[in-house]
Amino acid sequence: AVLGIDIGTSGCKALLLATDGALIGSETSTYDLAQPRPGWTEQDPALWIEGTRRAVGRLVAAHRDVEIRAIGLSGQMHGLTPLDEADRVLRPALLWNDQRNGAECAALTERAGGEAALRGYTNNRMLLGYTGGKIAWMRNHEPDLFGRLKQVLNPKDYLRLVLTGEKATEVSDASGTGLFDVRARGWSFSLMEKLDIDASLFAPCHESPEITGRVSRSGAELFGLAEGIPVVGGGGDSVIQTIGSGVIAPGDVQTTIGTAGIVASALDRPIDNPGSRLQVFCNVAPGKWHAMGVTLNAGFAMSWFQRLLRGFAAGRDWSYDDIAAAAAESQAGSRGLVFLPYLNGERAPHSDPDARGAFIGLTGLHGPSDMARAVMEGVAFALYDIFTVMREAGIEASVVKASGGGARSALWRQMQADLFGCDVVTTQGAAEGAAFGAALVAGLGIGLYETPEQAAALCRPLTREAADAAGRSRLSPGFAVYQALYPALRDNLH
Ligand code: XUL
Repeated sequence: AVLGIDIGTSGCKALLLATDGALIGSETSTYDLAQPRPGWTEQDPALWIEGTRRAVGRLVAAHRDVEIRAIGLSGQMHGLTPLDEADRVLRPALLWNDQRNGAECAALTERAGGEAALRGYTNNRMLLGYTGGKIAWMRNHEPDLFGRLKQVLNPKDYLRLVLTGEKATEVSDASGTGLFDVRARGWSFSLMEKLDIDASLFAPCHESPEITGRVSRSGAELFGLAEGIPVVGGGGDSVIQTIGSGVIAPGDVQTTIGTAGIVASALDRPIDNPGSRLQVFCNVAPGKWHAMGVTLNAGFAMSWFQRLLRGFAAGRDWSYDDIAAAAAESQAGSRGLVFLPYLNGERAPHSDPDARGAFIGLTGLHGPSDMARAVMEGVAFALYDIFTVMREAGIEASVVKASGGGARSALWRQMQADLFGCDVVTTQGAAEGAAFGAALVAGLGIGLYETPEQAAALCRPLTREAADAAGRSRLSPGFAVYQALYPALRDNLH
């Protein structure tokens, strides 16, 4: 079997996969996020280690007879784990959703020569979340600690260090630092020089399935694993979960409805990032790339609506299924009501922390079921809106593979089928998220699967919704209103 470990923002998941792709078992543990100030998010890396110890410990205890042949690591991307010369953690890690470094990202972009110039180095913009801006923030605001900074690791690569003693990273997570030449699949030393960032801060970069080390004696003792198991590069969560949903061929598109929403696809070449509105990264599959856009308002909009209903109807506990059932009583198009879900600001296709949400088109005839449906349609619009940018870059959708908690709703899947105009499937393993992809990449690394396509083929379809032209024509007017709303509100609300 192979072991996949994912250290997320709220917890760790560990799972064991048989070589034929069957799930043997999975365990999760949870840990907290610190928010020392509004917009700041941090985590003590010791929490990841302890969380992994608990999840892996339980998993191994439940399957003592299973031989683990390789380990794949996945984790939240863009995090900065700062280490000193003795590999001690200097301060809590700054996480992907930390908002503190806007000024630094702007300054780095200017120093690089502007957004277009930055695209020349990395094919991306320096997004607020990326590691590069966090390094600049430490340099500006914590000069003493910065003076002792010798190594910067992404979260899963810190786990690798504790597990194997090796400092290493791989192309997908490195892409999310904002300092990596995604086209050439290597660190952009010329950009680091231009930004006065010391190249020695970064670990050697591998292709994701490459073996980067083996479980050390101390790693074995700490996690209850056998010494010597090979550990492959693995990948950043939002990249590695695509192979774990079977997204590998041109035309495969993955949508994820978690708190945030993601639209992602696999590419055979590193497309030019249109106006830097997408995130174009290296895929965990060697020789392939990855394009995605992230909306900050997917499941988050649903949970907001749920809180609203609970607030209005004290005593009645609305579940997501209740909300979807109410939505089903309305009609496609929500009888003319449109919801813009930008409750959290937005990342894609509009990079704007000050973006605002709206219900538009209300009449006295609209009721709760129309509002529930408009919320769900608004989230589906947000995903499809990202895809319209991907289409500008030449990306097509022949099948959408839905994942995340939102994929459980058949109504939400049907909305996506109608908007994207192709089948929407859920696949075996997708519910396990990035840890499933990490296990597949581990298998790839030790030759259990010959090609990434072979690994991805283990993600067989479980459900299928077909596109319906009538449904699409009922959604189209709402989508046109949706796309007009952001520019109209920006000019009036900012
Ligand atoms: C990707 C991103 C998130 C984090 C969350 O760009 O910011 O998917 O990796 O875990």
